[in-house]
Amino acid sequence: MAQPNPPRRIFAQRQRRSPLLWYIAVIILGLVVLVGIAVLIIWLVVKPKHLEYSVENASIHNFNLTDANHLYANFDFSIRAYNPNSKVSIYYDSVEVSVQYEDQTLATNAVAPFFQSHKNVTRLQPSLTAQTVALYGSVPADLRRDKSSGNIELDVWVRARIRFKVGRWKSEHRILRIFCSPVLVHFSSSKGFDRTKCDVEL
Ligand SMILES: *[C@@H]1O[C@H](CO)[C@@H](O)[C@H](O)[C@H]1NC(C)=O
Ligand SMILES: *[C@@H]1O[C@H](CO)[C@@H](O)[C@H](O)[C@H]1NC(C)=O
Ligand SMILES: *[C@@H]1O[C@H](CO)[C@@H](O)[C@H](O)[C@H]1NC(C)=O
Repeated sequence: MAQPNPPRRIFAQRQRRSPLLWYIAVIILGLVVLVGIAVLIIWLVVKPKHLEYSVENASIHNFNLTDANHLYANFDFSIRAYNPNSKVSIYYDSVEVSVQYEDQTLATNAVAPFFQSHKNVTRLQPSLTAQTVALYGSVPADLRRDKSSGNIELDVWVRARIRFKVGRWKSEHRILRIFCSPVLVHFSSSKGFDRTKCDVEL
């Protein structure tokens, strides 16, 4: 009986090839470790910190809720944006602010794009106008109740398209969502305002 040779040859080829695969594996592993160390060093140098936002002041003017449950009102907010990083700057390429009451959006407005350098505090002063906003559900009755009680609890949402800048490197666009709640606003501006810290989602 003739003994077939091929199986042994295949085995021999595998034996010869495996050191090459081993080198490739070692090189890939080495690269992964190097990239990991580079990322760690960059992270330690940059030391990213969370961005901080708060509503510092808010007021309502020309509030008018018609008999047909349409709302007219002007909302003014002062939002403090703080970038605590010492190496990271931020491009705010678009910023949109909206005000909500009981999950109904009352008004929306854009804020002019801006650049925020490191350790900078920037105050945004959005003015939002509700014009003939049709209210539904329990919202009109609750708004009338709040108007007569003298204050109202609002939610302020900010949605921004931002890019980070570290040295000369700029990141891709990311969506920043800021949620400030509850923002307690007095209809009479003599009553003062308690600042509201905002939650940030990036
Ligand atoms: C808050 O805004 C109201 C109305 O615009 C203003 O009268 C008041 O001085 C502001 N308060 C602060 C602390 O800026
Ligand atoms: C509220 O709006 C209605 C309808 O536009 C108007 O007739 C009324 O005079 C307004 N009231 C105030 C106090 O501005
Ligand atoms: C933050 O940046 C803005 C716009 O560049 C500038 O007007 C403001 O003075 C800066 N504030 C601080 C505290 O550096």
